[in-house]
Amino acid sequence: MLIEKYKDQIEKTLGKYPDRRSAVMPMLYLAQQEYGHITPEAMAEVAEICEMSVTQVRSLVGFYTMYYEKPKGKYLIQVCTDLPCALRGAEQFFEALKDYLGVEEGEVTPDGLFSIEQVMCLAACDKAPVMQINFSYCEGLDIDKAKAIIDDLRAGKSYTPAYRWRAAEHAHAGRKQGGKSKAEPEA
Ligand code: FES
Repeated sequence: MLIEKYKDQIEKTLGKYPDRRSAVMPMLYLAQQEYGHITPEAMAEVAEICEMSVTQVRSLVGFYTMYYEKPKGKYLIQVCTDLPCALRGAEQFFEALKDYLGVEEGEVTPDGLFSIEQVMCLAACDKAPVMQINFSYCEGLDIDKAKAIIDDLRAGKSYTPAYRWRAAEHAHAGRKQGGKSKAEPEA
């Protein structure tokens, strides 16, 4: 249970907001981090913590593409293939990376480590090809650099600083502005 395992963190987060319901998004991130995706049980937990109905929580999960109702790999790779990046070879980059991982878009590698998907603009057009791994930016790539990052992650290393990672907290801003999965239907 989130409330037992993360009691202090949850109370600290709730304390930042005048209304418990306002903490629903960080609570959903916490649930996703803990369970890998947002399960029905996780929605019920978050609803209880935030004193909302499960239906309200489910509607948020369904609306925001940053929340996943199906399992993803431990590392979710999101490659921008929007126009400015496409002009710099992002589509070919995406196909090559997909081939290297041996999965189709949305699938999980057999070791459970990787999923890959295309997204729209990540607000780093001048550094294409660009991808995010679990919301951390990785910019100025080519396929050899990307393969090296995959190999590092497979070997249990956290990241490769030479490839200009940016901290996740900075990445979130761009993700909210753009970053909609191309697999998602337009609203
Ligand atoms: S088009 Fe790819 S980051 Fe903007």
